[in-house]
Amino acid sequence: MDPGTERSQPAPDLDVATPDAGTADRQGRQVVMFGDGQVAELAHYYLVNDSPHDVVAFSVDRDRIKSPSFRGLPVVPFEDVAVQYTPDRYSMFVAVGYPRVNKIRQEKYTRAKAMGFELISYVSSKAIVWPSAEIGDNCLIMEGNIIQPYARIGNDVVMWSACHVGHHTVVKDHCFVSAHTVISGNVIVEENVFFGVNATIRNGVTIGREGVIGAGVVIMKDTAERAVYIAPEPRLMAFTSDRLPNL
Ligand SMILES: CC(C)(COP(=O)(O)OP(=O)(O)OC[C@H]1O[C@@H](n2cnc3c(N)ncnc32)[C@H](O)[C@@H]1OP(=O)(O)O)[C@@H](O)C(=O)NCCC(=O)NCCS
Repeated sequence: MDPGTERSQPAPDLDVATPDAGTADRQGRQVVMFGDGQVAELAHYYLVNDSPHDVVAFSVDRDRIKSPSFRGLPVVPFEDVAVQYTPDRYSMFVAVGYPRVNKIRQEKYTRAKAMGFELISYVSSKAIVWPSAEIGDNCLIMEGNIIQPYARIGNDVVMWSACHVGHHTVVKDHCFVSAHTVISGNVIVEENVFFGVNATIRNGVTIGREGVIGAGVVIMKDTAERAVYIAPEPRLMAFTSDRLPNL
């Protein structure tokens, strides 16, 4: 609980759906995955092993194709993907990390939608998402996340493992939340924010659009648009571990 943090105005509206346990889509879909890097490799693993969906191909920009296949599946040019895999039969998932404060993923997400594709979301069966929480499309919600009642996650949000999203918090579109981030209750996270591992956000604050909240940073006040926070360097002591009497 975050006592005493009632917002004076209701949280802003988001165009999102209520997830089912295990995955945000009950019905299995044939999915073309955008990307051929480690995020795509992981997303493929999660979808194949922990969702009703089937991955049928990967897709990247034509001039970035390194190999005709990846993980045993064809790699098709993104420019032509809707010809071979028509949006009426296939869905997409854009599996890209956080470069350019999530804008590369956002751009591919927007193009896939413009081509007419439905974008599926993955929610790990090992995440705890209360039914009243809402999750948008093209989200990747990994194991151990806790999304409390009345929290809302927008579209195209990546949540790495074991994060906490408190009650009545809104995480808007195209954010990347690294492992073990704690976002307390009644927080508003504007679009395209990046959180490094173990970032901690106090209840009731607003994180400005395109902000970068570095690993281990503790935020206690509202942050400005595009603000960058870096945690202080740990102190290197002048003695070595063999000199510690209790270890
Ligand atoms: C905030 C963060 C993103 C910055 O990363 P970065 O751009 O690689 O920057 P670095 O950490 O290499 O460097 C920081 C230093 O460069 C400086 N710096 C970086 N960009 C700068 C710029 N454009 N202008 C001036 N100084 C700059 C910083 O002030 C800082 O200075 P210092 O050496 O005096 O401390 C990083 O600290 C961080 O927390 N990364 C998250 C890691 C993580 O959680 N990864 C998990 C992903 S799943």
